[in-house]
Amino acid sequence: MEIVPEIMRLKPSATLAINELVIKMRKKGQKIYHMGFGESPFPVQARVKKALCAHADKKYYSPTQGFLALRKQICSFYEKVFNLNFKPKQVIVALGSKSLIFHAIAALEGPLLLPTPSWVSYQHQAYLVHKKVVYMETSPKSSYLLTPSLLLSSLEKTHLDLSKQKLLLLNYPGNPTGQSYTKEQLEALVPILRKHNVIVISDEIYSLISYNGQNHYSIASLYPEGTIVTGGFSKDRSLGGYRLGVLLLPKRNDDVKRAILSIVSEIWSSASSPIQFAAIDAYNPNEEMMNFIQRCTDIHGIMTNYVYRRLKDAGISCVAPKGGFYLFPDWNDKKKILKSMNLTTSKKLAKYLLREYNLASLPGSEFGMPRKYLSLRLSTVDYDGGLVLKEYTENTSIVQKNPIKFVEQYAPNLVTACDILEKFTSSLQ
Ligand SMILES: Cc1ncc(COP(=O)(O)O)c(C=O)c1O
Repeated sequence: MEIVPEIMRLKPSATLAINELVIKMRKKGQKIYHMGFGESPFPVQARVKKALCAHADKKYYSPTQGFLALRKQICSFYEKVFNLNFKPKQVIVALGSKSLIFHAIAALEGPLLLPTPSWVSYQHQAYLVHKKVVYMETSPKSSYLLTPSLLLSSLEKTHLDLSKQKLLLLNYPGNPTGQSYTKEQLEALVPILRKHNVIVISDEIYSLISYNGQNHYSIASLYPEGTIVTGGFSKDRSLGGYRLGVLLLPKRNDDVKRAILSIVSEIWSSASSPIQFAAIDAYNPNEEMMNFIQRCTDIHGIMTNYVYRRLKDAGISCVAPKGGFYLFPDWNDKKKILKSMNLTTSKKLAKYLLREYNLASLPGSEFGMPRKYLSLRLSTVDYDGGLVLKEYTENTSIVQKNPIKFVEQYAPNLVTACDILEKFTSSLQ
């Protein structure tokens, strides 16, 4: 069988591939410290589970846009939690925000401006629909955030027609960097976006997992006419496998809605009906659900801050996290000695750590950074989420007083992973 050449060049998503490799190695009895895959580990909330069981007989297709009751609930959620006003007709529900981002990229005219490092899938999704990608490499000096000057110089340098529409993908809190934008930082970008006809796809899937003093602020509040927000409950409610995501359109954009819905209807028909009914409960912004999300966020903060502290203490360069459950350290200051070990690319570095230390991570090059930029994405979720959540819920104030002890007791794999990174880095003298 022959394969279309463009598709031949694609490979399975790096994050899913590393997870499958680790599962295989673990099955063979190898002990692996897994900082490669980012899946939030907490259990399904009882009321969501109950709702899913109660709706198991909803076997019919749903409207392509999603059930109205769910879209209404999503609007209440966004209003209460983020103070964002959307009407149900502006909401599209489909199979995970990943597919919705892809459909938005496919439907909207213009090249894709992509600040890097960025989540693995955006660039490949653009490639699949032959869309030009303009990479904008950010730096740890600006916390890997897109600055107005980088945006402007990228627009000018790449000779794009400034009057024609362009797309920008912003993701905050960000995967892989754990960084996020303040209201002021977003405010500085908006006049440039408006002036140069740039539509923003704002991937806010980690919005509720914000900590270290960061309150999530959506660019949709500042640039409502030019922002498409995507999100879902995969991360903050640990429901990735339910495969449900949300896209929120600006007002009066029926053409864009029709275009995205046409793609959804031709490929997926709709999200699964029982899952949508369970999602009505998962999107109920009541105290119980919001407390659950907050506790999970607190734990992500504790674990990610622990790893960050250990990296800094080991002399590893890394930007302090603001949200999510990832860190993006680099060993660029050790390039010379790493070169003598033939570790000249981030891919080689990640492979070396897996082979020599049983530590799984992802190379920075998977996130659009230059091959020789020696960074890794580390995720901080290798622990038993059920046990950790129970302990945190029962002893919140004790844990908050001594988070290090909590990590040492309940996340031994994370502790050992940090020991490994410390040992590896101190060997580079
Ligand atoms: C930055 C980012 N955006 C979007 C997604 C997709 O999430 P989902 O398709 O589960 O809604 C992920 C998942 O890994 C992600 O990390």
